Amino acid sequence: MLGTLAIMHPDVEKILIGPEALQARVAELGRQISRDYEGRHPTLLGILKGSVVFLGDLLRAVTLDCSVDFISVSSYAGRTSTGEVRMLLDLRESALGKDLLIVEDIMDSGLTLHYLLTTLKARNPKSLEVCTLLDKPDCRKVSVSAKYVGFRIANEFVIGYGLDHNEKYRNLPYVGVLKSGK
Ligand code: IMP
Ligand code: MG
Repeated sequence: MLGTLAIMHPDVEKILIGPEALQARVAELGRQISRDYEGRHPTLLGILKGSVVFLGDLLRAVTLDCSVDFISVSSYAGRTSTGEVRMLLDLRESALGKDLLIVEDIMDSGLTLHYLLTTLKARNPKSLEVCTLLDKPDCRKVSVSAKYVGFRIANEFVIGYGLDHNEKYRNLPYVGVLKSGK
């Protein structure tokens, strides 16, 4: 199935991380999280919408009992950050006393995670960590870091495996660099 779907989309400049590399790394992250949270019941907190594909795979790679919840924030219009983060959808469950693991698609300026970490910390979870599929460390505007990082990448706009550009390309089974002008 992946072989057919992995055919390059005409708007993609190059495939950065292919389906097999994604699956292998997500499996590793799942093993690491399962070890680190042994004896606990973490809540995997997906940040909509970009994390859904990653979360779906990560969840099946975690071998302990866990919960899932979602948050939706908005900070992006097109390719560049507006710098403003807004909460569009809050957690369904209380964060108090929970082991929260934020699952994010990509860390860029860090503004989204900085906002989420500040907001969620104030609700007194038992623990609060971040798992991001991708990290663009050169783009940071505020200092934040993630305990679990899938891949560190250069400062290029990427799409696929949940990541979009104007709501397109989330369904691509690889992470690719978008052609300029698209
Ligand atoms: P930050 O607040 O600048 O760290 O940006 C975080 C959010 O911006 C991510 O959750 C993505 O939704 C979006 N984003 C940042 N860089 C990219 C990219 O290269 N492709 C697609 N979305 C991105
Ligand atoms: Mg996101």
